[in-house]
Amino acid sequence: MAFISTVYSKITGVFFDAGIVSWDVLLTMMNLVQRKRRVGHVTPEGHPGYGGHWPEFRPPREGDSRCSCPALNAMANHGIIPRSGRGITFTELNRQIRSTYNFGSSFCSFVPHFAAKMLQKSYSKDVFDLEDLDLHNGIEHDASLTRADTHFQKDQSVKHLPYIEELLASATGKDSEGNAILTLKDLQKVQGKRRAEARAKNPEFSLSLFHKIFGSSNSSTLLTIFGGRVEDLRSILFDERLPEGWESRIRQPHGLTITNFNTTVLRCEFGTREKDFEVSKVGNEEPHPNV
Ligand code: HEM
Repeated sequence: MAFISTVYSKITGVFFDAGIVSWDVLLTMMNLVQRKRRVGHVTPEGHPGYGGHWPEFRPPREGDSRCSCPALNAMANHGIIPRSGRGITFTELNRQIRSTYNFGSSFCSFVPHFAAKMLQKSYSKDVFDLEDLDLHNGIEHDASLTRADTHFQKDQSVKHLPYIEELLASATGKDSEGNAILTLKDLQKVQGKRRAEARAKNPEFSLSLFHKIFGSSNSSTLLTIFGGRVEDLRSILFDERLPEGWESRIRQPHGLTITNFNTTVLRCEFGTREKDFEVSKVGNEEPHPNV
């Protein structure tokens, strides 16, 4: 029986992945021929955040569940998903990341399906708490840009403020109004340094190619969905709060597809050069100022 169900889940997995890829390519092509959403109209009407008006921000209370993902925590802090961060359905997560961040529906289906599988839960029937996503070396991994490694900090909802400060301070770009912009090069540098340091200082360090790509995917959202705008990133990363008036920088009608996203992800990953940063193992206690 177990054998039959393993074969069945492998076969359905292959069809699911092939289905997602074809669907994603179709969305990518439709984005090429259809008009972009107008600035100020990216968040759909009827959805929280329409017109830049996000529901009230409330920081988490004692007992609420939060995780290593600033974007999901922000949705809970605004009540777009349950404020408690508990009892969330995978289908709801799919729907809400689609309208909040304008990721393509292929991505919005793929990641929650992946998360359900990782947690050995049913995508359509089960619920999860945000902290469940912090399963080490599931999606969560070492050398993140906003969190100390699990070896140093078990609770991955805790932000590591010096890393976030360093990330934002590394921004070298400017937009037409002179606002600071984080560029792909900046991100590659910070990521390379972070990996070199984590490898040198964390006695339990691990980072497979798979997790490197996951890391670059998370990092790439800073450039795509958030357009690298340091002022917005300050609010998202430090406070896990969507700035008043904010909308996704992706204006394509079918959102950011996996195909388009991957061009940034792969450039980010393959331009990350850990070897450029030599780090001594001496003095290896991880710093403290977490929140
Ligand atoms: C179903 C959807 C999602 C799941 C399950 C998820 C899960 C995660 C997890 C587990 C991490 C921690 C990874 C690490 O160890 O560094 C993470 C980090 C992150 N995620 Fe998400 N996420 C989702 C959607 C999103 C979306 C829609 C965005 C952007 C709009 C986003 C942006 C980020 C960022 C910026 C980080 C921080 C990366 C770092 O510290 O290096 N995520 N996410």
